[in-house]
Amino acid sequence: MRCPLDAFDPFSAEYLTDPYALYAQAHAEQRVFYSAALGYWVLTGYDDIKRVLRDAVTYASRNATDPFTPVTTETAAVFRAGGYAMQRVLLNADAPVHPRVRRQVAAAFTPQRIATLAPRIGALVARYVHDIIAVAERQVDIVAALTYGLPAEVIFLLIGMDAEDVPAIKAGSESRVLFTWGKPTDEQQVALAHDMVDFWQRAVAFVEKRRLAPQDDYTSDLIRLRNGDDAVLTMGEITSVVFGLLLAGHETTTGFLTNAIVQLLSAPTRWQALAADPALIPAAVEELLRLDTSVIAMRRVTTAAVTLGGQDIPAGSNILALIGAANHDAEHFAVPGEYNPARAAAREHLSFGYGAHYCIGAPLARLEAQIVLQQLIAALPGAQLVAGQQLEYLPNTSFRGARSVLVRW
Ligand code: HEM
Repeated sequence: MRCPLDAFDPFSAEYLTDPYALYAQAHAEQRVFYSAALGYWVLTGYDDIKRVLRDAVTYASRNATDPFTPVTTETAAVFRAGGYAMQRVLLNADAPVHPRVRRQVAAAFTPQRIATLAPRIGALVARYVHDIIAVAERQVDIVAALTYGLPAEVIFLLIGMDAEDVPAIKAGSESRVLFTWGKPTDEQQVALAHDMVDFWQRAVAFVEKRRLAPQDDYTSDLIRLRNGDDAVLTMGEITSVVFGLLLAGHETTTGFLTNAIVQLLSAPTRWQALAADPALIPAAVEELLRLDTSVIAMRRVTTAAVTLGGQDIPAGSNILALIGAANHDAEHFAVPGEYNPARAAAREHLSFGYGAHYCIGAPLARLEAQIVLQQLIAALPGAQLVAGQQLEYLPNTSFRGARSVLVRW
């Protein structure tokens, strides 16, 4: 028997492994429903979610990084003692701060910066792929061997951080995901808060280093744009942007690259078609973003009473917009569970959001995915998933990507 929708549990193993069953149930039974356990209205329809993302005034983002588990006094003390001072700048900010910060952040994120990164990403991927094909057993965990570290190295290239900080930042990111989008116990929350303080202090120290001696990187560009003027950006805001990118810039891409590889290898013809004609890869990436994205939910809070999917929702209500469900809405995408790289509407997915908070890193994520698939498929045209493995996911509402995937060739 299927669970009633109001018993929706985004932390259950069942949902984490296969959220698509719940999406289909909601589309059939009730597109907007209230989850008492979360205290959130849950949206699953493409049109409702696009309407919400388009209207940043009625649907504010200030709850986007509020932990689902209330912060305990002990946790608050850990943050205070560690000088943790993350400001609301992008994902969790609204007007007037968001448009001001976003203008600067977008201005520094130039197509030229991305273009100069392309050959360096190509070289990085080549190094990872070279190490993979050298494995004598002809089998690797593709997450450990590629998708875990690579996106962090790429964002480090952009920001200007040293690659030796990658392990600490990756571990710290997982703590941030569990703290903010998971359901830790009070005890776990304190431990996660210590990791977040460490992460925050690394960001503070790095930005201060760049303030004293700017280089040719994105962080230094933001400091130059600021030009000593707090009305443009404060140093605290720049640190918060960097702290944000040190999660948004790789955790998302790690999950997406992993999901994409799993999807392509789950039916051998998908991988083989791209091996035979690599020119199909950009379209495949778009369809993979629709089919199995890594950011499956975003949050908003209503600033006025609204009606969505026939439900009257009061002002001040929390909303969980299931982007993964929007991408699988049969009213928008025909046979949504099917991988169809020739799908004309694939680019209409909401995987990078929509409107004011549209993903700043979308061009970089697309580029990275294309380079990875080109090189990996060319090097391992006969790759296969190891049969019988059970994929596992980090228990949280929003970031989806298997933690380990065995691939052999
Ligand atoms: C496949 C990879 C990625 C996915 C699926 C993804 C997804 C998203 C989504 C859905 C949003 C919208 C959030 C909202 O509306 O509340 C977003 C925002 C954002 N993303 Fe990405 N992202 C990816 C990669 C990246 C990369 C590589 C970067 C950085 C270089 C990045 C930086 C950001 C930032 C800074 C925001 C906040 C923008 C704002 O609030 O104005 N993302 N992303």
